[in-house]
Amino acid sequence: MAKGKYEHLLKPLNIAAVPQMMRDGADSFKNTGNADSIYWLNGKEHLEGLPLNFSWGFYTGLGNWHPGMDPHIHPYPEALVWVGLDPDNVEYLGAEITYCLGEELEAHTFDKPSVVIVPAGMPHCPSITQDVTNPIGYSFMIFSLGAEPTTTWMGDGMTDEQIEQMRQAQAEGSRGPSMVSSFSEKRIKVTPETLTYGHKYDHFVKPLKPFSTSLDKLTPEERARYEKVTSDGMKVGPGNTDNLVWMYGKDLEGLELNFTWGFYKSPGVWHRGPGDSDGAHVHPTDEVLVFVGTDPSDIDYLGAEISIDMGKEHERYIFDKPTAVICPRGVPHNPVIARYVDKPYAFFVIGLSGEHKTTYVD
Ligand SMILES: [Fe+2]
Ligand SMILES: [Fe+2]
Repeated sequence: MAKGKYEHLLKPLNIAAVPQMMRDGADSFKNTGNADSIYWLNGKEHLEGLPLNFSWGFYTGLGNWHPGMDPHIHPYPEALVWVGLDPDNVEYLGAEITYCLGEELEAHTFDKPSVVIVPAGMPHCPSITQDVTNPIGYSFMIFSLGAEPTTTWMGDGMTDEQIEQMRQAQAEGSRGPSMVSSFSEKRIKVTPETLTYGHKYDHFVKPLKPFSTSLDKLTPEERARYEKVTSDGMKVGPGNTDNLVWMYGKDLEGLELNFTWGFYKSPGVWHRGPGDSDGAHVHPTDEVLVFVGTDPSDIDYLGAEISIDMGKEHERYIFDKPTAVICPRGVPHNPVIARYVDKPYAFFVIGLSGEHKTTYVD
């Protein structure tokens, strides 16, 4: 990768060490249902201070993700996104998940790619993997709107010894990414009998709905969404995805967040802008572009070589490892060009506003 003015905005995901609590020995957090491999980047340490922390991981195991500790709360809202790993079917999850919301532990079970929205201060989890039907598993992302992962644990299943162990790990901080953990006075018991099955929180659980970029296949509703995205003159190129999911703040209970999800299989430019513009654009708010692989046996494998231009100078960066590209508000970026694609890869945008406003600059 060339040295340049914008190099600090390109963050290989492996700059984030595996969180302390996910390592071997931290048994309550790293239970069978939790990630086999994961990166978790936070604004404070890895993302130039953005009010965001996000994770990307691969999952194959069954069971509760961190028994005894949940439910938990954060001082910021988050969106939790479950996705599958079949590049030909973005609506296939390959797993069945039960996720609990509220002090009621209201259980929601789904087997399609879905997002769960959690407002700041609302108790959530446990997350329980009931079944995994894709032999290679599935993936999961956290988009949390705070620079520093901060959690208050409310489960009544932790021993004093475990709490002390976590406090010590935190005090040692130097060992790796922070999760500022505290423990609630109020404890909530989780057993199969204490889960409830109401509908108070149904609106916080939503399926991911892709729209095809093949125009002739669009329903009127899909066409309206597509035209909204392309109304600024964007022209889709051969390297783009053909099954993009894009959810905005209005789809996410008003969060100051929009995100995309899609699989990318072909080389070529992703899109051009209006006229003869090559697609360089700016946004009035910050966004992060995250390029990841789809091979669960190696979280460090992207399967593609990507080039992206940054700044009005069009400084070109090329990478072939999973990478997050920070696009601060007002900084031009693009075109994105997939130079080689050896294996379908995946990509998501995390935009830090409910709307996604784009102005093409050249
Ligand atoms: Fe959480
Ligand atoms: Fe952008």
